[in-house]
Amino acid sequence: MRTQVGIVGAGPAGLLLSHLLHLQGIESIVVESRSREYVEKRLRAGILEHGTVEVLREAGLADRLNREGLPHEGISLRFDEEDHRIPITELTGRMVTVYGQHEVVKDIIAVRLAADGQLEFEVTDTKLHDLTTDRPRITYTNAEGRAEEIECDVVAGCDGFHGVSRQSIPANHLNIYDHVYESAWLGILAQTPPSHEELIYTHHDRGFALHSMRSPERTRLYVEVDRTEKLENWSDRRIWDELHTRLALKEGFDLNEGPILDRGITQNRSFVAEPMRYGRLFLAGDSAHIVPPTGAKGLNLAVADVRILARALDAFFSLKKSELMDTYSQDCLKRVWRAEHFSWFMTSMLFSFRGADPFQKELQKAQLRYTATSEAAAKSLAENYAGMPFEWSD
Ligand code: FAD
Ligand code: DHB
Repeated sequence: MRTQVGIVGAGPAGLLLSHLLHLQGIESIVVESRSREYVEKRLRAGILEHGTVEVLREAGLADRLNREGLPHEGISLRFDEEDHRIPITELTGRMVTVYGQHEVVKDIIAVRLAADGQLEFEVTDTKLHDLTTDRPRITYTNAEGRAEEIECDVVAGCDGFHGVSRQSIPANHLNIYDHVYESAWLGILAQTPPSHEELIYTHHDRGFALHSMRSPERTRLYVEVDRTEKLENWSDRRIWDELHTRLALKEGFDLNEGPILDRGITQNRSFVAEPMRYGRLFLAGDSAHIVPPTGAKGLNLAVADVRILARALDAFFSLKKSELMDTYSQDCLKRVWRAEHFSWFMTSMLFSFRGADPFQKELQKAQLRYTATSEAAAKSLAENYAGMPFEWSD
């Protein structure tokens, strides 16, 4: 097979890229190791930055997002059993939208298939070849067990942290920055209405807790657990008890309980691989960088990368200009490092790492009090949380 852009991975990065390229008249084929059903159900991010929503709207992908997304104008920081609201919209003029990542994925798949887009699910043994030539190739085995080859002009590595794309770059061509935290996230989706109209980011001596939501009927909740914790050690009762304890307020807080529909543990990691390009291979999203979920930035960074990549490829294919491809990595990395810092900052302020010494604990409290009482500190948090405007990093 022959196409212009071979895309590895049908997560938000790969799917959005294939759609943006289609709008620009550029052909692509997406290969994905999981089934369509699996990627459409995989529960992950839930917060879309202001700019992410704009990108989806401009690309004609927001019909359902406009109807079902929940716009949020503030978040709560909860510590010492008190709430401190950060009025994101009042401070920045921007807002965030609660809309599940798998809903974004579902919406883009539907639009791509309606346009006869080529998406190959359940492929195995994906391999990249000839990346430093102008005819790179992707080989794989398709769902029927047949060996396939895609010859293309450019390969987009959108296959997440554990994918094959980054691993296809010789180690001496990459600078790796990697930081693993002591704690992880245990997340649940519960069939119960949210207990508060906004997200609550809680710092507690027993660990971080987050109250989020997916819809007026479904609540998403997280608790900080040890990095080596096993899901089987957490009964439903233990999860709810821990959430009640950490989310408690002096004046009382009613946390709604309900059947747990989904649960999982996610590691906290900060990771950047630079540059995000090797020859004709361009990395986008989690394949190039990971942030701890605390800042709600991963999906939004993937969208920002792809927006830049789509423009660079447009200039390349329609005008034969490669300048934007040459600056792709540095253009993305400005925003990536800002989000890396913000995600580390939120995690450092809110988590209760095992082994943290009394000095570190007092610093955390000082930062929480400062953020809750200083407009300048709150504004900085709000600006990063709503997402830096694209013009800031363009
Ligand atoms: P992925 O979504 O990982 O997609 C990569 C795809 O490539 C996958 O479908 C995978 O199956 C496929 N693939 C892998 N290897 C191969 C191969 N060899 N061949 C073919 N296909 C392959 N981000 C936010 O912005 N806001 C949040 O609120 C937020 N909360 C989160 C909460 C949790 C619990 C988790 C786990 C993550 C959260 N994130 C959040 C991060 C966000 O989910 C990721 O950053 C996002 O999924 C990145 O998208 P991506 O397309 O780059 O990678
Ligand atoms: C959600 C996840 C996050 O990491 C976050 O910071 C906010 C919300 C969520 O899944 O709803």
